[in-house]
Amino acid sequence: MLRPIVHLALGITCLAMVSIVTATDGDKPGQHAVASAHPAATAAGREILDGGGNAFDAAIAVAAALAVVEPYSSGIGGGAFFLLHRAASGADIFVDARETAPAAATADMYLDAQGEFVRDRALNGPLAAAIPGVPAALAHLASRYGKLPLTTSLAPAIRLAKEGFAIGPRYKMMAGFRTKAFSASPAAAEIFLRDGVAPEVGARIVQLDLAATLESIASDGAESFYRGALAERLVAGVRAAGGIWTLADLAGYAVKERPPIVTMYHDIKVVSAPPPSSGGIVLAEAFNILERYDLAALSEVDRVHVVIEAMRRAYRDRADFLGDPDFTTIPTARLLAKAYADSLAKDLSLETATPSAALPAIGIKPEGEDTTHFSVLDADGNRVAATLSVNYPFGATSVPPGTGVLLNNEMDDFSARPLTPNAYGLVGAGANAIAPGKRPLSSMTPTFLITPRRIGIIGTPGGSRIISMVLIGALEFARDLPPSEWVSAKRFHHQYLPDEVQYEKGGLSEGLQDALAAKGHSLKELTRNYGNMHAVLWDKRAGVVDAASDPRGEGGAQVWRPQP
Ligand code: GLY
Repeated sequence: MLRPIVHLALGITCLAMVSIVTATDGDKPGQHAVASAHPAATAAGREILDGGGNAFDAAIAVAAALAVVEPYSSGIGGGAFFLLHRAASGADIFVDARETAPAAATADMYLDAQGEFVRDRALNGPLAAAIPGVPAALAHLASRYGKLPLTTSLAPAIRLAKEGFAIGPRYKMMAGFRTKAFSASPAAAEIFLRDGVAPEVGARIVQLDLAATLESIASDGAESFYRGALAERLVAGVRAAGGIWTLADLAGYAVKERPPIVTMYHDIKVVSAPPPSSGGIVLAEAFNILERYDLAALSEVDRVHVVIEAMRRAYRDRADFLGDPDFTTIPTARLLAKAYADSLAKDLSLETATPSAALPAIGIKPEGEDTTHFSVLDADGNRVAATLSVNYPFGATSVPPGTGVLLNNEMDDFSARPLTPNAYGLVGAGANAIAPGKRPLSSMTPTFLITPRRIGIIGTPGGSRIISMVLIGALEFARDLPPSEWVSAKRFHHQYLPDEVQYEKGGLSEGLQDALAAKGHSLKELTRNYGNMHAVLWDKRAGVVDAASDPRGEGGAQVWRPQP
């Protein structure tokens, strides 16, 4: 039985884009569903599913199309996590295509002679770029899980790159935000700007070099990106602009499959991202703390307070313990234990906020906000939750000439210096210090939510706030609400440090603000809303497949029955 959980959404001003189809065929959904941040990417997934592909082929198509039409969020020059479920075997698989630090990276590479952190070096230009994982991930998905060749699944993206796409307001805003940084890379500015400024809404962006790069991956596989002429162009362009990549760095890149993090929240099995994502462990810790409370029986302010306090404690452990598991020992079993949550909650008062300074101190560092998420379900029940990133909007705003590859700036997700917050205000410790070949700690949290009756596929971009958004969306799932509510719920966030509750514009009513302040919370209203969640639900018993795209973005959600 589902326990009723309080509705955390505090009212929405616009409707999520929603698509629903009812009537299913036994144990299979019998319908396809795709929800992504751009209608052209959702259409790419649909084209591949209608052409005989499965959810994994569709994920390749959506990821590649997003690399073209949403270049400020993810791309061939970035990284990704793909959480997969294979209906035939019942297996959940996590594909880690996170970027890796180049071999010449050093712990102090972003510090000046006085030991001060130089943010510009970690954010702008090729020195900020780690070795991309997305090309390897697309090939890995196709060879291990897909039914179609890359020449088919990459075709929609190649077409979009060649023919161009018309930009929307979100592109214009992101390009405006990064205009100055683009000035150091004429090759990037020529593609993404118009006469050095953000293009007007409706302008067409054509990417012929990117189309050629995608075509070579389609015909020759990932090898064509990581070795040979294209790799040489990438390395030459990176080094000419001050970066440190080598051909050996590219040739040495490999995706890794890792067991997902699995936890139970009441009767919901939560399957989520393991390190080098912090998402699954932080989410599990927060759920374990919340499970001790009957949220439905609490007043609204007490519920929000308890959720904030759970976030505070779980994010503290993120800063202390989490990093690339191939480089640091993470006490995963201890952190996931229900008894550990009891100890975390023992000083949690319903009356007053716990100051973060009162929690055990950590040997402290800080992470990028853009990024993208999509969710796919196919008619057989295969599913994909994928979150992909170039980190900051338009990544490092740099393109090695002749490649069309926009470089990530994921190096900023490492802790460049203890106690120094990154672009998202996160702090961290030695577990996430820079080292050659290491993957920077991420917050990307692609997640499945599973009960005997309902299966949810959920995730979002949003830097450090990703995990708290997935938590709030998952609590809406737990309340038995549809995906439109998960993606629309009003958002608030606590990440241990800074010791403040951040909330999106209008995210907390005045009454809640006053009541939380009276408990001792320091509150900060952000100037805008945040997140761009895209979610799918398969309600097995009701025979319903439902999908929704966040009303804050420009995404598209579709559910449809395959043609016989
Ligand atoms: N760059 C955002 C993340 O990985 O969390």
